[in-house]
Amino acid sequence: MYDDNPTLVGIQKKIDESRQGEAFYPEQAREAEESSRHFYIESYGCQMNFSDSEIVASILSEAGYRPTRALEKADLILINTCSIREKAEETVRKRLRIFDKAKEQRPGTLVGVLGCMAERLKSQFLEEEKLVDLVVGPDAYRDLPKLISSAEDGDKGINVFLSREETYADISPLRLDSNGVTAFISIMRGCDNMCSFCVVPFTRGRERSRNAFSIVAEAAGLLDRGYREVTLLGQNVDSYKWENPETGEPVTFAQLLEMVAGVSPELRVRFSTSHPKDITDEVLYTMARHENICNYIHLPVQSGNSRILELMNRTYDREWYMSKVRRIYEVIPDCAISSDIITGFCSETEEEHQDTLSMIEFARYSMSYMFFYSERPGTLAARKFEDDIPMKVKKRRLQEVIRLQTQISYQHNLQDIGKTFKVLIEGDSKRSGEDFKGRNSQNKMVVFPKAKGLKPGDYCYVKINEATSATLKGAIVEG
Ligand code: 5AD
Ligand code: SF4
Repeated sequence: MYDDNPTLVGIQKKIDESRQGEAFYPEQAREAEESSRHFYIESYGCQMNFSDSEIVASILSEAGYRPTRALEKADLILINTCSIREKAEETVRKRLRIFDKAKEQRPGTLVGVLGCMAERLKSQFLEEEKLVDLVVGPDAYRDLPKLISSAEDGDKGINVFLSREETYADISPLRLDSNGVTAFISIMRGCDNMCSFCVVPFTRGRERSRNAFSIVAEAAGLLDRGYREVTLLGQNVDSYKWENPETGEPVTFAQLLEMVAGVSPELRVRFSTSHPKDITDEVLYTMARHENICNYIHLPVQSGNSRILELMNRTYDREWYMSKVRRIYEVIPDCAISSDIITGFCSETEEEHQDTLSMIEFARYSMSYMFFYSERPGTLAARKFEDDIPMKVKKRRLQEVIRLQTQISYQHNLQDIGKTFKVLIEGDSKRSGEDFKGRNSQNKMVVFPKAKGLKPGDYCYVKINEATSATLKGAIVEG
């Protein structure tokens, strides 16, 4: 079961790494290890949530807890939850049933719900799920040690306060799901866009940007520890804005990118997510100027139809989005663009759905994350519009979108046959220990036979000779 769960496998990797002498398991603490309390954490949802779990792990390790992948060994079971679609919440509730059993077998174990669902449901959670002891929202993780100790005394702990300042800038995340090569750096929190379908502004609060120097320092620290790629994370990275208190000068996202790219040419930089309305030419020029800023932009369109985009409150229309895509290909011809797409939004007609399909062809997305619309309580759409597209229709439209995107991804990848890419090796390929896997600048997974002397974290050049819709295959060539 654990092998199916990437988070848990990641935790095990982290533990293995720690045993090789990382700061997290300092020599002198080894003896205390068996007697120390253990936490187990599972994460769901977006990359930001996974990144938050690493902040939580850091706070808990400061408080004397050690990570474990064995549920039955845990004194504290945490689940970092997502509310974005109903299905995500159902999955969490199922996991809580399983944690209940673990708790029965090991009385005294505490169960905590973190993240977006904690924020959305607040104290209602404690009423609905009797065996939950802690409910902690995304901005309250510093409070965890205090909440844990009051829960140990029998008082259920809740803190769902949303902050206007918290960025956890000073916390050095404990890398849980780490391959030792790529890492996420959270650069901002919250979201001020009001997309009508989206629960995020309610669960993660107002947008705020993290101290730029702390971001650069985190990137430099990762480089020192052998990491070779960082992904700058935020709900809307292009609206990053931080004011340097010493000079009063604002730092924009383009400037931040430049600063992080300057850490080392050996350190690749990625970022996610870009809102089409906010990505600037400055960002594109900065990408074009720096070889180590990857040529890949996640630019969610959500719908290809202007009327639906208006209902979604995306603040751009079809033509505007298309001109943004044209601009990206103009400035960075070999840029890969990916997208998020929602089918069956309130009142969407067949013709409007066709506009989404034609947008996939126009933008030539290398890949997309595709969903059918799931109404979320409290959102603008839930309050204003009827969720009137039958589930059968939503799912059929989703299938059409997936089918087309798979074809386009395949064509996109076929065009790479014969090309040579610089690839950062991330580890063994899933299928064979004889092969490495890594990514090219466009974020495509590349699989190729290992060569002597090369290891994860090294760059190599791979000439592509085969492609599927999801992967490129090739062989190492001289750079
Ligand atoms: N229903 C379906 N998909 C949604 N997303 C966000 N909210 C919803 C919803 N209510 C999708 C969007 C977003 C991605 C993270 O999840 O496409 O970009
Ligand atoms: Fe899910 Fe959105 Fe919260 Fe991420 S921010 S965990 S996607 S609801």
